[in-house]
Amino acid sequence: MRRSVITATGSYLPERILTNKELSEMVDTTDEWIVSRSGIESRHIAADDELTSDLATHAARAALDMAGLDANDIDLIIVATATPDETFPATATVVQKNLGMKGGFAFDIQAVCTGFLYALATADNFVKSGQVNRALVIGAETFSRIIDWTDRGTCVLFADGAGAVILEAAEGAGTSDDRGILTSHLHSDGEKHDLLYVDGGPSSTQTTGFLRMAGPEVFRHAVTNLTSVVHEALAATGLTAADIDWLIPHQANKRIIDGTGRKLKLSPDKVVVTVHKHGNTSAASVPLALDEAVRDGRIQRGQLLLLEAMGGGFTWGSALLRW
Ligand code: UT7
Repeated sequence: MRRSVITATGSYLPERILTNKELSEMVDTTDEWIVSRSGIESRHIAADDELTSDLATHAARAALDMAGLDANDIDLIIVATATPDETFPATATVVQKNLGMKGGFAFDIQAVCTGFLYALATADNFVKSGQVNRALVIGAETFSRIIDWTDRGTCVLFADGAGAVILEAAEGAGTSDDRGILTSHLHSDGEKHDLLYVDGGPSSTQTTGFLRMAGPEVFRHAVTNLTSVVHEALAATGLTAADIDWLIPHQANKRIIDGTGRKLKLSPDKVVVTVHKHGNTSAASVPLALDEAVRDGRIQRGQLLLLEAMGGGFTWGSALLRW
């Protein structure tokens, strides 16, 4: 059976670090409130002249370097982003040009914070169908551009960054011992639009708009949806939560991460956490956390990884893979 295996990872964070103390000078908040309610201590913010495509290109180059590949070895680029450089063309085509990739095809996926899971599942299907041998899957965001910096309920949470993986075709036996993506599960519920959305866009207001969120309602749905989509992945493969070596969750809020981990009865030392220093980087959060745990040696070949995320739409999803 044809499988797609993640053979390399990369990431990029803008140089500028914004601390809770600085935010407490901008809006009516405190370091104590932000840390206790979200777990976030600091986050990275893109420079004025840094675009989502720039962040994505840095992350992609790091992944290509790890794999020892050239951009022209890649058949497909997918960029998951809710903050594209322009309304069109796709940010992925800008990355294609930046990398000097002459063939193949590139497109964006928009599923907000679940974007990386949607992009990974899409690339996996292209690989499994035989249409693509190597894909570059990127999550990249400049959420600082759609934040209302006077809204203390959201401006303390979101941030900028990019993460990338290279997915390559490999032969597997069709069992859960195979390396590669074993199963992926995607969901959406358009009825929940008003709980998390951006109040602008080309067709509605002809402006970019600002992120609006009913935080406590999103929080409630997050733990429920994430736990259920993790169980769905385990049920599809006949594995149990005890088989998971690493949970790599969307980094929105430390309390959501802890709540999901507790429901799965996972020891906290099996959960990769970066939210304290990255904030919520939307589609970039899962590949950023993955890259960190790969590069510091926590993730080892043969281990079972569970990736999950939830975001605006609502959208939510999971991917279970063997490293
Ligand atoms: O990635 C997409 C998914 N997004 C998420 O998963 C985010 C989900 N939601 C959350 O993470 C949490 O709901 C928040 C971190 C956004 C908020 O935490 P909370 O414990 O749900 O707080 P709350 O919104 O219920 O607010 C509690 C109080 C309120 O004051 P009153 O009404 O009790 O007087 C807020 O006005 O805290 C106030 N508050 C703040 N105070 C200081 C809200 N934001 C702040 C702030 N600083 N930044």
